[in-house]
Amino acid sequence: MADILRQPAEVIYQAELEALHAEDSGSKPHNWYVSPKAVVTYLMGGKTAAGVEISAKYIGNRRLIETAVATLATDRALLLLGVPGTAKSWVSEHLSAAICGKSTQMIQCTAGTDENQVRYGWNYAQLLAKGPSREALVPTPLYRAMESGTLCRLEELTRMGSDVQDTLITVLSEKMLPIPELNEVVYAERGFNVIATANNRDKGVNELSSALKRRFNVVVLPLPDDMEQEVSIVARRVEQTGIGLDLPIPKNVREEIEKVVTIFRELRGGETLDGKVVLKTPTGNLSTAEAIAVMVGGLSQANWFGEGALTAEDISANLVGAIVKDPVQDKVVLEEYLETVMKKRRDYAEYYRSMNDVL
Ligand SMILES: Nc1ncnc2c1ncn2[C@@H]1O[C@H](COP(=O)(O)OP(=O)(O)OP(=O)(O)O)[C@@H](O)[C@H]1O
Ligand SMILES: [Mg+2]
Repeated sequence: MADILRQPAEVIYQAELEALHAEDSGSKPHNWYVSPKAVVTYLMGGKTAAGVEISAKYIGNRRLIETAVATLATDRALLLLGVPGTAKSWVSEHLSAAICGKSTQMIQCTAGTDENQVRYGWNYAQLLAKGPSREALVPTPLYRAMESGTLCRLEELTRMGSDVQDTLITVLSEKMLPIPELNEVVYAERGFNVIATANNRDKGVNELSSALKRRFNVVVLPLPDDMEQEVSIVARRVEQTGIGLDLPIPKNVREEIEKVVTIFRELRGGETLDGKVVLKTPTGNLSTAEAIAVMVGGLSQANWFGEGALTAEDISANLVGAIVKDPVQDKVVLEEYLETVMKKRRDYAEYYRSMNDVL
């Protein structure tokens, strides 16, 4: 297991989950591994009574996570909505890990996803040999979640066709899945629920039908409120990713993160942080997730090609790549930003020079 590139949350944070489980004697929803309060502690961080440190997974508004957890304890499903890179998949993974100890029961919804990948499919060799039977049926993650009373994650729900999305209606409202071929029905065990994620600013998404929308409680995950919060999200994730990739973390990483986040926030918001200069905004959405990726790319460059310290040069190519998504429009936006804002800032001189080099 040691060589696996990325372990699921329940493996990485097994010790934390066990510590929370061990002292969770209060009542909890059926089939939950820990109580709703402990799930929130697991996500937001804290300390158990026995003194075990629980790291914060989500940085942001505690109420949102409480609402999400409370929803999952009811018979309504949870839909995490937000622009790309706002930790929807991340929160969904951690919620599943804490609630049912398994975050891998997941369906990635795409334009090519059909009903067989949502409900059940058939093993055709078996189907031909034996006809429709339980042995010939191939359960999907949703089917297994229903049978075992656990959670199923649906990633990017709105990317699959609206007709396929609607197969979920019976499952979510009647809590059962008819199998007409066998004249049988699978009933969901208690503890079953669904966490879906969807992003509301992307090409190629299909509207949720209002019938389906009614079955979900929606929690909108926002972009980080302030600079400090965003810097701490990026710093934490860059450090964790760096350690996972065996990349040394240079001392000045936080300073550079502050600069990158400043650039991101100014371009995203369309004005400088002090509000004095109005800027054009690039077409990409410059999310926190992209700031993390830029920094991790920089760390790798510094480690393999640099002198060890993290320099503006290591970061600039990735930074320009993140900002310039449209080679024509975004280039103009960035050039203007470089000339009107960055050129005048002394501590950004290195960035100004090296970003101009790659642009
Ligand atoms: N508020 C936050 N707290 C903790 N981590 C965050 C936060 N916002 C973003 N991240 C980090 O951003 C990264 C990307 O998040 P994730 O992939 O979950 O985004 P997403 O909302 O699912 O995006 P997409 O719509 O593109 O799928 C994760 O590594 C996550 O840790
Ligand atoms: Mg996602």
